[in-house]
Amino acid sequence: DGDVYKYYADGEWKKSSSGKAVAIINPTTRKTQYKVQACTQVEVNKVMESAKTAQKSWAKTPLWKRAELLHKAAAILKEHRAPVAECLVKEIAKPAKDAVTEVVRSGDLVSYCAEEGVRILGEGKFLVSDSFPGNERTKYCLTSKIPLGVVLAIPPFNYPVNLAVSKIAPALIAGNSLVLKPPTQGAVSALHMVHCFHLAGFPKGLISCVTGKGSEIGDFLTMHPGVNCISFTGGDTGIAISKKAGMIPLQMELGGKDACIVLEDADLDLVAANIIKGGFSYSGQRCTAVKVVLVMESVADVLVEKVKAKVAKLTVGAPEDDCDITPVVSESSANFIEGLVKDAKEKGATFCQLYKRDGNLIWPLLLDNVRPDMRIAWEEPFGPVLPVIRINSIEEGIHHCNASNFGLQGCVFTKDVNKAILISDAMETGTVQINSAPARGPDHFPFQGLKDSGIGSQGITNSIHMMTKIKSTVINLP
Ligand code: G3P
Repeated sequence: DGDVYKYYADGEWKKSSSGKAVAIINPTTRKTQYKVQACTQVEVNKVMESAKTAQKSWAKTPLWKRAELLHKAAAILKEHRAPVAECLVKEIAKPAKDAVTEVVRSGDLVSYCAEEGVRILGEGKFLVSDSFPGNERTKYCLTSKIPLGVVLAIPPFNYPVNLAVSKIAPALIAGNSLVLKPPTQGAVSALHMVHCFHLAGFPKGLISCVTGKGSEIGDFLTMHPGVNCISFTGGDTGIAISKKAGMIPLQMELGGKDACIVLEDADLDLVAANIIKGGFSYSGQRCTAVKVVLVMESVADVLVEKVKAKVAKLTVGAPEDDCDITPVVSESSANFIEGLVKDAKEKGATFCQLYKRDGNLIWPLLLDNVRPDMRIAWEEPFGPVLPVIRINSIEEGIHHCNASNFGLQGCVFTKDVNKAILISDAMETGTVQINSAPARGPDHFPFQGLKDSGIGSQGITNSIHMMTKIKSTVINLP
């Protein structure tokens, strides 16, 4: 069946023996855009076997050669930016320009990772024993970093390429093999990206990409005894994975409710511009999106007016036309967002625009005077709907931020750097941005969440460290 994209295993494109396919619905047309193979558990077992075998010789491949292949893959991926970006537009309704940016950013990430890898992994440690009480200088300890084995990468729909390579590149440079399970929406973009790695000429079995239903192969993959590390980005599923996974390192990034705290002395034009970028880019479907504005009452009216004026200028429509606001990823997501909006309406939030929806397309909406009894005060809409809560003290803002079960990022706007630092220290989040909207990048910065936002720290450097283990050899002198 030529219509169904093949999965990638053993350096080849294959059809699943299931004879079944999974449909990928274009969020804009709401019609089937592509189909991918529904892989079976037997096929997953085979992939795990090949990954294990391939890893053994890959670990012995010189580091500079591994880096060279990654640089090659990065260049090919950047050359293929147009067709990969086109898939992103069709599968996840990412605005055309942003889709190209995602692919280029991914190529850069892979190259940077190759460079960072040769530096980090090119160094080990040398320790001597006589610094510890009771020891003579008779033991020399040599340490280096060794790979973990097979890394399982599970990226989310919102960055099916970038959040796949942010796991693939560190895993490979460190000498691991990699099994990718892409999100269904975004699977074809991911397969296309994997094709770039295929063209670069990595050894067969080192990278595989299995597609299919989470219900059929999801738990089977994450609980597979052949997996030595899981790097996951997504929603609540990550909490379930953490509970079920074996004794292996986990890297989890599971969403956020990033707060934007606005003090009285803030540059309100700067704040408004960042609220638009932070709250509405990719229609709010980013875990680092601004998801609640906590503004001091005395400047709230002015700020809301400024944001309203900018919301009115956002273009709404198809991703092909490069509109700012595009259809959200699925009908169920749109329904969920609508549920939050209705709840806010019933409980008396001020609607700065009329609520409007057409299929999966939801017009941008700013909700003022949101109170803590409304769901939108706490839940992640993952859509273009942003609540504003008016506060009377900094403490009130920090309290709201810290009462969340999430703790990914946050931001604070003020000209008083001392206050900004104190607020940053008080916010229970993995990162605080001063005078800018939350963001993961640049991609070598540490990226981590507290509480339900995740385990471990990502970013190129941290991921390389996380996907390795220390090995020591001790020379005992007579
Ligand atoms: O939602 C995924 C998260 O990693 C966001 O990345 O680059 O939009 O801040 P970014």
